[in-house]
Amino acid sequence: MYVVMGVSGNTGSVVADRLLRAGASVRVVVRDAPKGDAWRAKGADVAIADLVSGHGLGAAFEGASGAYVLLPPNPVSTGFVAEQATKAENIRAAGVAAGLRHLVLLSSVAAQHADGTGPIKTVGRAEGVLRAAFPNTTFVRAAYFPENWAGSFGMLDQGVFPTFLRPDVPFDMVATADIGRVAADALLGGGAGHEVIELASGSGPLSPRDIADHVGALLGRPLTVVQGPEEAVVPTLTGYGMSGDVAELYREMIAAFNHATTSPWEHTGWFVRGPTQPEQVLARLLGR
Ligand SMILES: NC(=O)c1ccc[n+]([C@@H]2O[C@H](COP(=O)([O-])OP(=O)(O)OC[C@H]3O[C@@H](n4cnc5c(N)ncnc54)[C@H](OP(=O)(O)O)[C@@H]3O)[C@@H](O)[C@H]2O)c1
Repeated sequence: MYVVMGVSGNTGSVVADRLLRAGASVRVVVRDAPKGDAWRAKGADVAIADLVSGHGLGAAFEGASGAYVLLPPNPVSTGFVAEQATKAENIRAAGVAAGLRHLVLLSSVAAQHADGTGPIKTVGRAEGVLRAAFPNTTFVRAAYFPENWAGSFGMLDQGVFPTFLRPDVPFDMVATADIGRVAADALLGGGAGHEVIELASGSGPLSPRDIADHVGALLGRPLTVVQGPEEAVVPTLTGYGMSGDVAELYREMIAAFNHATTSPWEHTGWFVRGPTQPEQVLARLLGR
């Protein structure tokens, strides 16, 4: 039986669906009972648990051979790094107590760097904690999600595509559908010691300007890319309700990308490129 967290989100839903379609026994973990109803109807067992308090995690992992876990970001946290460490520790403690043999963690591009990467450092640190605790781990180091570009859609009616990233620097992206597929297949494989899968999607890296061009083509009108200055990151994100602590971490991550102070890929283990083109995700986001 496989445990899947985050099933109301992007990747967990794909993992659970794929496992169920493969005929596997699945237990999904939700925080709110009603979110389990649709999964129960599909044949999954449902557990209620919370990563921050750890409550319910032991029962959720009981009897499982493998689990898909993630460290969902809490955008209003005032102690983000510590909170993410607590989630990782709660997964470790409950998983070890349940005798879990294989853990698949949604990690991130650049997770190999100990610091200087904003929120990414928290999944890198979780990798260390979990690698030491379980006989088999698969860390899926995912590239930037094309789904993030929805955050640049607010000024489309003015013909503007804002970004804090350098407009002409291409980088890899990965569709969350491809992450879910890779993670489910890793679980079905049972694990083979400690592996890292670096994961991207589509034909290759794309720049923010490439993305704006695709969005413009989908809308039938050209867009102007406007790069916001780094000092506007924190006020902009806090203006949308993010805590200052989390906004500062995102500023650090954006600076790391823009100044190329961190290499995205470690080139260790596997590098996989999923079939979904980021353009397909943009079309879905825009309802085209
Ligand atoms: N965005 C990127 O470019 C990027 C790149 C690489 C890696 N990542 C990683 O991707 C992850 C997000 O994955 P995603 O997009 O699949 O998730 P998502 O769509 O943001 O959904 C988060 C899921 O986690 C659940 N959740 C939130 N807080 C929880 C808690 N305290 N206890 C238990 N469950 C909780 C949510 O359930 P509810 O319905 O209860 O809220 C939801 O199902 C992040 O951890 C980040 O590290 C992101």
